[in-house]
Amino acid sequence: MALKAPSVGFSGDHQAISDLFDFERHRVSSQLFTDPALHRLELERIFMHTWCFVGMESEIAAPGDYVARSIGADPVIVARDDDGTINVMLNSCTHRGTQLCMTDSGSANSFKCPYHGWDFNRKGHLIGVPAEAFRFGDSSPRSRGDADLRVARSATYRGLIFATWDDNPPSLEEYLGDARWYMDAVFGASDKDLIAVGKPQRWTMPSNWKYGSENFTGDGYHGPSSHASMTELGIFNEATVRFFLEGVQATDERFGHSVSHFNVPRTSGMELEGDKLLQMLYSWLPPTVLGEVRKNLTPEHLSVLEQGDIAAIGTVFPNFSWVMQPTPGGPLSLLRTWIPVEASLTEVWTWTVGHPDSPPELRRAGARMNSTLFGAGGVIEQDDLTIWARMQLARKGFAARTQFVDYSCSRPANRDGYFPDGSAFPGPGTVRLGATGDDTMWQLLVQWHRLMTQSAAA
Ligand code: FES
Ligand SMILES: [Fe+2]
Repeated sequence: MALKAPSVGFSGDHQAISDLFDFERHRVSSQLFTDPALHRLELERIFMHTWCFVGMESEIAAPGDYVARSIGADPVIVARDDDGTINVMLNSCTHRGTQLCMTDSGSANSFKCPYHGWDFNRKGHLIGVPAEAFRFGDSSPRSRGDADLRVARSATYRGLIFATWDDNPPSLEEYLGDARWYMDAVFGASDKDLIAVGKPQRWTMPSNWKYGSENFTGDGYHGPSSHASMTELGIFNEATVRFFLEGVQATDERFGHSVSHFNVPRTSGMELEGDKLLQMLYSWLPPTVLGEVRKNLTPEHLSVLEQGDIAAIGTVFPNFSWVMQPTPGGPLSLLRTWIPVEASLTEVWTWTVGHPDSPPELRRAGARMNSTLFGAGGVIEQDDLTIWARMQLARKGFAARTQFVDYSCSRPANRDGYFPDGSAFPGPGTVRLGATGDDTMWQLLVQWHRLMTQSAAA
């Protein structure tokens, strides 16, 4: 049984955390994003209890394949075993805690610790101890039962692997909740699951992880200002930028997940319908699988797609996001995690995703568009990172500690009048028409509050 570690630092006290929220006016204290002790509490109360994205099935397609990832601040090995099962194990030797696996990815029969040579199989069982009889006599670590690696629960959804340390979590499907309907539209349209194209890129940003998670729920309001460079450079035109302002937002308020639909064809002035529209919306799919889209999606999904709307951007609480949308220049299809390293330091991971049957030129087009806009040096990425870094600096001072930041643009939940005939938007969750309100971001913070005040120990 795992020992309980006490909380440290900032009042783990629930009232003190609630005092950081102004629920009436939808404002929160800057300290939510800057306080190191709150960050420690987040790792314990949020990242130990939620399903976190750790990779794509295609990254570990064959038995023995593994990738090294993180759940919150904990490094994990995500490995495929001979029987096809996926095991997610704490990447820390049970002898003295050394990081076992030092490479990002590869194929291995077992994981041997570089310090004294303890060896663990792909299920996390300790299988080899140098000089075991000599050192340990009858008390062999292999038979003691307390020297295996800690294994997280893991599950997959449409080729995406999630893991959690929680002992009694809801199933992954239950946890994804209403987000599933929207994820199905982008990740479940073809018969085959999407795959990672190349290796993920990663970099650090000197700001808090929640800026990324909240922004990717659909901060449409920031687009025309933060990303004015896109129009100045001629990558987007004035009309295209309107997609930041139009659209539909949906939230599962039980879990804090949100999705935003954007309508790139309409806001780009394109009159497309039928297969041409579908091909543009699913620009990362090869045309040969478009028939599968009609077969796999529900009539409700298809009715939304026929309007030109796609679930372009979203965040599954706490730190998994995607951008899946067409642009006038090609497909944008990427996954994100925002790994909390410190209160003011986040490791950003980004994967280009594509279809296994895509011709190489289509995969390259996707990788190029993702890199150009959302890579480490991407135009959109740099706009956001620069602002988030300055936001972090501006919130860290002592005067700023008393400042509450604003999420007060709340719009009434309303799904009516979405279609030209006046009928309602068919997707689940709390739905709002338009993509400029703060509700999706506010709900992410409400969920943060719920978890931070509901359990005191892992
Ligand atoms: S720390 Fe791993 S074998 Fe000693
Ligand atoms: Fe942005």
